Amino acid sequence: MTNTFMPTQGPLVTADDVHKSFSVGKRKVEILHGVSFQVRESEMVAVMGPSGSGKSTLLYCVAGLESVTSGRTTMLGRDVTQLSKADLAKLRRREVGFVFQSYNLIPTLTATQNVELPYRLRREQPPADLVREALQKVGLGERLGARPPSMSGGEQQRVALARVLAQRPQIIFADEPTGALDTRTGDVVLEELTTIAHSPGQCVLVVTHDPKVAAACDRVLFMRDGLLVHELARPSVTEVASSLAELSGSDA
Ligand SMILES: Nc1ncnc2c1ncn2[C@@H]1O[C@H](COP(=O)(O)OP(=O)(O)O)[C@@H](O)[C@H]1O
Ligand SMILES: [Mg+2]
Repeated sequence: MTNTFMPTQGPLVTADDVHKSFSVGKRKVEILHGVSFQVRESEMVAVMGPSGSGKSTLLYCVAGLESVTSGRTTMLGRDVTQLSKADLAKLRRREVGFVFQSYNLIPTLTATQNVELPYRLRREQPPADLVREALQKVGLGERLGARPPSMSGGEQQRVALARVLAQRPQIIFADEPTGALDTRTGDVVLEELTTIAHSPGQCVLVVTHDPKVAAACDRVLFMRDGLLVHELARPSVTEVASSLAELSGSDA
């Protein structure tokens, strides 16, 4: 159990009219055109949409890894756009987990050492049992001593997931967490994320192309051209698939 959680009434993650532009050469290109949503305690929320619609950018913005051009984001009731770099880093290190492919894995450290790293950064002794158990859960029990450069993309992503499992952060952001995995490992990862999301004081926001992952979520937000255009609550795989088809259908 996390002991740093201060019960807040409000949602754990919010985006309020978020705009995001990138400079491309001399031009500014707006990718997010005013996105608003919330993720509440014990919720697992999916973001789906065509490739290039801005899903990863949105995830990076609400996670505080990218600055927003305008609008506001909060995590655990704290205004991310107002936090100092140091406070944001502290918040992320303690309360936020990222499951992005190879995100922040240190190439010179073994799988075990990568999972231990958040503890070491806080000058805490890593709990050896929990670390090993987390790596075993994601099917890396035989790869404890392997280093990221010798691992596949899927294996690297599973190290990132094990690091999250060994931390139990309040908020987890995941970008295509099952995309590079075989079906069985993908199912394990999905089950772990669902369990964490539905624990008190925790939540998961996951970008996915997989209708099965989306159907395991409490809500699914559909994105198109930098805007949220549709939402489903506890949908079936079929409902997700037909919403997706509708969304990309008008492209064809
Ligand atoms: N750092 C960046 N600089 C310029 N354009 C970017 C940058 N990151 C993403 N984009 C553009 O933003 C759009 C949305 O990208 P992304 O958020 O990765 O979409 P998705 O995850 O939905 O596939 C794409 O057109 C992409 O080229
Ligand atoms: Mg993406």
